[in-house]
This record gives sequence, structure tokens and C-alpha cells, in this order.
Amino acid sequence: MGTYVVTGAASGIGKACAERLRAAGNSVIGVDLHDVEVIADLSTSGGRRAAIGKVGDLAGGRLDGAVMAAGLGPAAGRERMIAEVNVLGVTELLDSWQAAFAAAGDAKVVVFGSNSTTTTPMVPKRAVRRLMGGELDAAVRQIRRRRGVSGPVAYAASKIAVTHWCRARAVSDDWAGAGVRLNVIAPGPVMTPLLQSQLDSGTGSQVRAFPLPSRRFGTAEQIAEWVLTMLSPAADFLVGSVIVVDGGTDALIRPGDW
Ligand code: NAI
Repeated sequence: MGTYVVTGAASGIGKACAERLRAAGNSVIGVDLHDVEVIADLSTSGGRRAAIGKVGDLAGGRLDGAVMAAGLGPAAGRERMIAEVNVLGVTELLDSWQAAFAAAGDAKVVVFGSNSTTTTPMVPKRAVRRLMGGELDAAVRQIRRRRGVSGPVAYAASKIAVTHWCRARAVSDDWAGAGVRLNVIAPGPVMTPLLQSQLDSGTGSQVRAFPLPSRRFGTAEQIAEWVLTMLSPAADFLVGSVIVVDGGTDALIRPGDW
């Protein structure tokens, strides 16, 4: 049994993952804005520093894994916050905890991407590069030029950036070389408070009209099941992979793009 950190553990998929890990006898350090062990706002650098330090104290120098599920959905007007939480709320925390993962010997880390990374048009590549380089102001300026779609573009750009970051880190000496497995899960629409708020918003009709071969949304429990597999010994040979669990949208939109 191990010690795992789960960001976004108060709601939706992160909560389902934390419950599954605890039910299997593990210790879970939840990080979120409320109702968890470590209360921290990942949209600010002070909040991220607090999360890094408090988790470090509670973990005692060793972490068997992490689920990085805290995230904000697409919404116009909060492009900067989306970048802070969805990108820096993953990259800064994981880099700080790398030594604790390495200390475990065979730690597994799962980061939440999204199938919006392959299904959202008009995401400026330069904005993605800037997000990866920590130039958030420049990235956000560029994203806001996509008038009318800046929310979805900010969301997709943040998830592309964090996916690229994970794939680069995953294969490096400090990660794969240290026995740490870092992989990404890319869900399609999953019925959680995040999706519900999109359905209730002005873009709800677009979300409903999006092609979904499964004809039903996923559930948090289904995604948690995949995450638990990605944290298990079955993932010893899984390195820098992106596991798409999306009801078929990605395959429908780009069947030959592989
Ligand atoms: P959710 O809204 O149910 O849970 C997200 C959690 O992140 C919440 O508990 C929230 O408080 C936390 N969070 C948000 N901002 C934070 C901040 N500043 N500091 C600390 N915690 C913060 O969402 P859901 O659906 O469970 O999403 C989990 C992950 O899955 C997210 O990264 C999301 O982008 C991703 N995802 C979700 C999809 C969906 O359709 N639900 C589809 C594709 C990806």
C-alpha cells in the first residue's frame, strides 16, 4: 500500500480516484480548494508553493504516485486562470515532487489531458509553446485574439501544453530513468460538475452537438478505473503515453491520423 497525492480530489474524477485509492488501502493526500487534506489555490504561485510544501511534509520524502486532476473547464474571461491551474498547477508541483517519486522506486503519475487537444480547431501553436515556457501573459494575449472561442482555445492550449510537457519529462533520466512512470489520460465528456457547468452555460448546445459515437457521456468511475490501471504494475511499460478514453470522438474526427 502506498501514499498518493490527488489534486482536484474534492470533486468529479479526482474524487472518484481518491475514493478508489483509499478503498484499496492506500493513503491519499488530497489537494483542492476545499474538503481535502491540503487546501491550496493552484491558480496562484503562493497557493502552488503551499501545496508543494504541505504535501512534501505529509509525504515524508516518498510518494508512490500522483493523480493530477485539478482543472478548470473552458470559459471565456478566465484564460489566465485556466493556464495557471491546468499547466502550472501540474508542472510546478510535479517537478517539485520528482525526488519523492524517485525515492519510491516505481512511482506512477497520471496527468489529466483531454481529447480537446486533438479535436479543437484554431489553437495557436505559438501560444502552446509560450505556455510550456511559462510565458503566460504572452500566451493569454494570443489566445484572446481568437474572439468568440477564446475559452475553448485556452482550455485546449493548456491541455496540449501539459501533454507535451509530460511526454518530454516522461522519457528523461529523472523520470523514466529513475523508475517513475508519467502518463496522460485524455477523456472526452465525462459527467461531472465541470461538464455540467458547460452544459448549463451559453455553450451548452455546442457541447451537446459535439459528435460522440458512444452516444452517452462517460462517468467519473469509468475514468477512475483507467487511472487505477495506469497507477498499477500494469503501467510499468507505459511511458509518456496518452490514453484517450472519449466515447470515440477522436477516432471519428481523425480516423487516419495516427
Ligand atoms: P471537477 O470540476 O468536478 O473537479 C475539478 C476539481 O479541481 C474541483 O474539485 C476543483 O475545486 C479543483 N480545482 C479547480 N481549480 C482549482 C484551484 N485553483 N486550486 C485547486 N483546485 C482547483 O472536474 P472533473 O470533470 O472531475 O475534471 C478533472 C480533470 O479532468 C480536469 O483536469 C479536467 O480538465 C479533465 N477533463 C474533464 C473532462 C470532463 O468532461 N469532465 C473531459 C476532459 C478532461
